[in-house]
Amino acid sequence: MNNINRSRRNFLKTGGALALGGTLPISLVELAFAEASQNFTFAYISDAHIQHIKGSRFVRNWDRGLIRAVAETNLLTPKPDFVMFGGDLAQLGSPAELDHGAEIMSALSHKVHYVMGEHDYYLDLGVYWEKLFGPQYHSFDHKGVHFIVLNSIRTYDDWTYNRWPGNEQRMLEMAGLDNPNGSPFMVGEEQRKWLKADLAKIAKTTPIVVFSHSPLQKIYKGWNFWTEDAEQVQALLKPFKTVSVIYGHVHQIQYNQIGNISFNSVMATAWPWPYPASYAQAQHYLPKLTVPMNRADPFFERDATGWQFINVANGNVDLNFTLYNNTDRVVRFDKTKKHPADKDYQTENMRIDPQQHY
Ligand SMILES: [Fe+2]
Ligand SMILES: [Fe+2]
Repeated sequence: MNNINRSRRNFLKTGGALALGGTLPISLVELAFAEASQNFTFAYISDAHIQHIKGSRFVRNWDRGLIRAVAETNLLTPKPDFVMFGGDLAQLGSPAELDHGAEIMSALSHKVHYVMGEHDYYLDLGVYWEKLFGPQYHSFDHKGVHFIVLNSIRTYDDWTYNRWPGNEQRMLEMAGLDNPNGSPFMVGEEQRKWLKADLAKIAKTTPIVVFSHSPLQKIYKGWNFWTEDAEQVQALLKPFKTVSVIYGHVHQIQYNQIGNISFNSVMATAWPWPYPASYAQAQHYLPKLTVPMNRADPFFERDATGWQFINVANGNVDLNFTLYNNTDRVVRFDKTKKHPADKDYQTENMRIDPQQHY
């Protein structure tokens, strides 16, 4: 069976299992999704890092990752209501990279919403990106769910406007994963004000889904898996019954729960970063996750790259990961434990508590 067929088959099985607790003939899956009128699906593609070499040449691997994700998304059944792109479409934010990425994405037969990544932003602070994809932050309602798109990768004005001799230098400094000259990401006061006003119009029982690029939680500052004003953003989301934050940037599978907010990352189409326990070289950098997790396979080069299909039912988010040449995974909201859980890679006995393990 080729990859596309295998991926579709796996998703279809998962979709059936979500609704009815068992496998279904493929032809019945759409009925399962139609069971609750508010249930629907959307797809998410992230972190393509389209990289210009020169002239008409781009890094082939990154192109192929995105082309493949687009092609597979177009084949999904049931058809997602829309597609999210999670940021880092480009590597160094140039018009050539953004244009090339937009051209590949234009093959999608869906409405696409875009999230800003730091690799898209720091060359011209999003000017060209906005021309192609629209505002850097906005919200929209879809079938009873309130969706919010934030630009979470801004930083201090002094660093942005005064620190560097030119825009290219600023972009390069922010593009480095562990560059000590980088600066912590943040949503910032302007967007927090906007978010507060946006949420004021929404009933507290409405399911909220927030899309950001960096995690709206503090995981690992050394690599900017971090949002400096995360607590302030979380405080704005706290009054709502069900909130899911879905983010890119980390190029790995992460899930967490803080109060009423579930956090799930999506994978990259470009390359994987190692998992938390493998980058815990220095004790003070250990991530503090309220839902400790086991690792999938940090030494497998294509682990945590690929695509995932996302199911939203009644505001909770289930992520179905299709991993290249690896075991597929599902991170699903566990209603008993009230947090997302990856049942295949985490049991009560297998948990690694990073605070004690190293
Ligand atoms: Fe990225
Ligand atoms: Fe990023």
